[in-house]
Amino acid sequence: MKIARQAGALRLVALVSALVVAAGAQAGEVEVLHWWTSGGEAKAASALKATMQGKGHGWKDFAVAGGGGDAAMTVLKSRVVSGNAPAAAQIKGPSLQEWAAEGVLANMDAVAKAEKWDEVLPKAVSDVMKYKGNYIAVPVNVHRVNWLWANPAAFQKAGAKMPTTWDEFFTAAEALKKAGIIPVAHGGQNWQDFTTFESVALGVGGVDFYKKALVQLDPATLSGATMEKVLATFKRVKSYTDKNAPGRDWNLATAMVIKGEAGMQLMGDWAKGEFIAAGKAPGKDFVCVAAPGTAAAFTFNIDSFALFKIKNADNQKAQSDLAAAIMAPAFQEVFNLNKGSIPVRLGVDLAKFDDCAKLSSKDFVADAKSGSLVPSIAHGMAVPSATEGAIKDVVSQFWNADKMTAKEAQTRLVAAAKTR
Ligand code: GAL
Repeated sequence: MKIARQAGALRLVALVSALVVAAGAQAGEVEVLHWWTSGGEAKAASALKATMQGKGHGWKDFAVAGGGGDAAMTVLKSRVVSGNAPAAAQIKGPSLQEWAAEGVLANMDAVAKAEKWDEVLPKAVSDVMKYKGNYIAVPVNVHRVNWLWANPAAFQKAGAKMPTTWDEFFTAAEALKKAGIIPVAHGGQNWQDFTTFESVALGVGGVDFYKKALVQLDPATLSGATMEKVLATFKRVKSYTDKNAPGRDWNLATAMVIKGEAGMQLMGDWAKGEFIAAGKAPGKDFVCVAAPGTAAAFTFNIDSFALFKIKNADNQKAQSDLAAAIMAPAFQEVFNLNKGSIPVRLGVDLAKFDDCAKLSSKDFVADAKSGSLVPSIAHGMAVPSATEGAIKDVVSQFWNADKMTAKEAQTRLVAAAKTR
């Protein structure tokens, strides 16, 4: 009896080890660099981790905190230079081409072909994911940047109306201030200053001005009267922020609106991920409206992962599985529900998405048709990274230096725009 039981147990052990070995032959590990560390972001990132683990692969989290990703990009550069690239890294827009030109990115055409990426992605998006015709990256979402987030209870207390123009914005800000509420929640970090700046530029100057000034970097537009007005309006926003804004992380600024300490925040829809993670309901506890003057335009910010050349065959398999998983409809749904963005893949059912996402999706399609879909310069979509960095610095210097005139800032902008 005892011997039979032991033999049975041994057989079970042998069977289990055989299964483990079989699974082990398939399983690899992906190291993934990203900067998604806030509440909503982390939930979205963990959906990716769970998906990979569900496929039997290991997940090595390479999270580098810091909104907008500046810190993450610095760390990534040193890792790649030392020959130790992660399998995937959050890299976006024109930077993808810069990395591909270094020869460090992997060709993902086999996955792209098998998963029909050319058919399920808008061409404007798939073009950015390719280098010399080959896929080197996979997109995960579409964020809209030109949003204003507001706390309706704070507005009610102040007797303020939700603004649709910059004049109405300042009227509401004044009323909130009188009611003892911080009108604008802001974090004084250069990418946040820049995020506010581009929404002001779009709202005050309009789509054509935005394209000429911040996409084509036309010197005459950068030094013209409209840009002067944009800069003056931008600086006026600062007078409605609080004295603790310098250095504050964006999600802490969002938390101020969540708690009603502040009335509004100008931020992309990753902010919605924070409201949702805090259990708040859109339309009831918080409101999303287009940034003043921008209802008929859409500043897009598409998150994507670049896939690096790696050596180990099991890890290469894991990397391909990661790329396929990111584009799968089920993942696109769960990830974007948490992230605040909308699926980048065409035809994903939006039934589970809220009204902010539905509006974003409707406007994305309409603005693509009408030509008012514009790339976010603050989020790496519009110009080379060196140019973006130089312009961003001028914008923040202007925001912070009380004595700099708009004219002076314009002279500096024209110079910065030539940086490559
Ligand atoms: C953006 C990124 C978003 C969000 C945000 C704040 O650049 O595209 O996904 O993470 O930074 O960290």
